[in-house]
Amino acid sequence: MTKVSNLIEKVAIIGAGTLGTQISMIAVYYDYKVKVYDPKKGAFRENFEKLRSELRSKKIQPIIPWDKWEECANNIQQMKNIEETIKGADLIIEAVPEKIELKREIFRIIGQKAMPKAIIATNSSSLPVSRLESSSGRPEYCLNIHFYFPLQGLNIVDVMGGTHTLPQVFEKGVEWVRSLNFIPLTVKKELLGFCFNRVWRAIKRETLYMWGNGFVDFTDVDRAWMVFTGSREGPFGLMDKIGLDVVYDIEMVYYNDSKDPKDHPPEALLNKIRKGELGVKTGKGFYTYPDPEFLNPNFLNGSK
Ligand SMILES: NC(=O)c1ccc[n+]([C@@H]2O[C@H](COP(=O)([O-])OP(=O)(O)OC[C@H]3O[C@@H](n4cnc5c(N)ncnc54)[C@H](O)[C@@H]3O)[C@@H](O)[C@H]2O)c1
Repeated sequence: MTKVSNLIEKVAIIGAGTLGTQISMIAVYYDYKVKVYDPKKGAFRENFEKLRSELRSKKIQPIIPWDKWEECANNIQQMKNIEETIKGADLIIEAVPEKIELKREIFRIIGQKAMPKAIIATNSSSLPVSRLESSSGRPEYCLNIHFYFPLQGLNIVDVMGGTHTLPQVFEKGVEWVRSLNFIPLTVKKELLGFCFNRVWRAIKRETLYMWGNGFVDFTDVDRAWMVFTGSREGPFGLMDKIGLDVVYDIEMVYYNDSKDPKDHPPEALLNKIRKGELGVKTGKGFYTYPDPEFLNPNFLNGSK
């Protein structure tokens, strides 16, 4: 693939979990030089294998052709520490868990060690970069670049600046997203949840409330959603894919912002997390994997 952007060449990804692994793969496929760091040994390979088997089991044709997957993975440099990972990088994207203190700490290290004009982005699903930027000491270079589930073809990305983001930094971010053949959804002024992610969040909030308080069965919500939208999965199937721990943390960011009890994720979700039922990544969430019920041809009419 030929890279479109001449402004960014080297990309560093901090965190090789569900999202960090996918962003690294997409970036390397589009010819960027990619380094990745995760303190968990083998995290990249583990997530790579999980994603591959999940997409294969659902018969999803990914953005990167199957015959390029190994080559892409082999071209991603896996590093042993953050400092080496961000050295020389033009763009650094953090994709660590949705914990504000952790993200601030990562921004602090990046701010101290990265090249002076490196762009610092967070892939956070809920935190506006304005809540992280000061830790970097260079808020002019910070922004939100929020991917969805890029490898399976969700080629939309929210891009939002912070309080001091330079226009040219924002533009570079937008251009980089376009260079991946992705669609940038630009946010004109700070909004919790960004652009489409806020729409998705409204769906999560309502469906979790309905299930968590015993009003409905989650499978009926998913059935209805699949019929209504023609999607392969419903909101609960999607939350399993995101990871229920990640969903919980994101919902707590909204709750902490509003303090509205209806924004608090239900206790039933926390119970699942306590039992280790985190979704696809642990083999069980709302559904059981690798063969979730919603993939059964009879799922839509409710018969087993
Ligand atoms: N899961 C999704 O569908 C999704 C979608 C869009 C955005 N996001 C956002 O992306 C971010 C990551 O989410 P995820 O689903 O990939 O989480 P994840 O739990 O799958 O992965 C996080 C990774 O970060 C690593 N990590 C922990 N501490 C670290 C550190 N100090 N330095 C480097 N790496 C560290 C962990 O070992 C783990 O591999 C979150 O902010 C989340 O809101 C997630």
